[in-house]
Amino acid sequence: MTTRAVIAGVGHYLPERIVPNSEFEQTLDTTDAWIRSRSGIARRHFAAEGETTSHMAVKAAQRALKDAGMTPDDVDAIVVATSTPDLTFPSSATMVQAQLGMTRGFAFDVQAVCAGFIYALGNANALIVSGQAERVLVIGAETFSRLMDWTDRSTCVLFGDGAGAVLLDAQPGNGDADDRGILAVDLNSDGRHRDILYVDGGVSTQTVGHLRMEGREVFRHAVEKLAATSSAALQKTGLTKADIDWIVPHQANIRIIRGTAKKLEIPMEKVVVTVQDHGNTSAASIPLALSVGKADGKLNKGELLVTEAIGGGLAWGAVALRW
Ligand code: UT7
Repeated sequence: MTTRAVIAGVGHYLPERIVPNSEFEQTLDTTDAWIRSRSGIARRHFAAEGETTSHMAVKAAQRALKDAGMTPDDVDAIVVATSTPDLTFPSSATMVQAQLGMTRGFAFDVQAVCAGFIYALGNANALIVSGQAERVLVIGAETFSRLMDWTDRSTCVLFGDGAGAVLLDAQPGNGDADDRGILAVDLNSDGRHRDILYVDGGVSTQTVGHLRMEGREVFRHAVEKLAATSSAALQKTGLTKADIDWIVPHQANIRIIRGTAKKLEIPMEKVVVTVQDHGNTSAASIPLALSVGKADGKLNKGELLVTEAIGGGLAWGAVALRW
């Protein structure tokens, strides 16, 4: 018998304020038409003043727990994927732990930028499979609006804030690809590409900094690497493309999402798309898409999902799982 990390609950939180593309037309040399046609984004949510990554993470986590019919007392560990923590330390995860009222277990952050949720899922899966935890809250939460250079039209129109969470539960499986839960993980990074997507500040350089991106270059890497990592994860399960029910991609750009689906020979009807409503929420984008997809009746028990992401590092990866 094998232990599998099964998604037992999912939830999300989006800040109240919705910002349509037209709002950027007032301050920047840009148009709603450009943003929609180049990225697929129509609107995004921005956190209110004083609203932080941990606040949003807690709300998403509470909804995931409710969805799973569990309480914070049932949770052994919390992993938060974020590049925009409330403070440099302690971790956002320990702040979430306290706000949930958890007094046992352990909590830590994972930082792999837009691939953060994939890395966090991979780590949480390893904790469960190795017997170190039975129930793990995996959260992606970001306030990327706080990293924007509002004079840079090539970046500030693309990102948004939000949080999503899943509750992973250790359940018995047969060790084959019919099992529910995480079936395979594929993680990659290549630090030589640091300069195409980064924040030009940090603690040890004593600045906060803003997000900088050579969008065209990132785009060039994205489709190829996302298709390759998805195929690699799928191959580890022994299944084929024909077995995929859903692709749940990182939501950065509809053209990247379409290009990757095409390369994988998966029709767009099998792809969960939320980029039009959320923009790029970095590590929050996949759990947000999982939660919205489920609410829309798209992800059903027993279906095979491949979820994939790429971001700063470059760091990228994919997880194949049965819902
Ligand atoms: O989540 C992490 C991973 N990040 C990504 O996946 C992002 C990857 N990159 C992208 O999504 C796309 O490259 C962008 C959406 C960022 C840009 O789309 P593009 O088709 O690659 O456009 P481009 O960068 O080649 O720019 C085309 C033109 C440029 O003008 P010139 O040089 O052709 O005269 C830009 O200056 O569009 C201009 N431009 C804009 N025009 C109006 C750039 N931003 C804007 C804007 N409004 N907001």
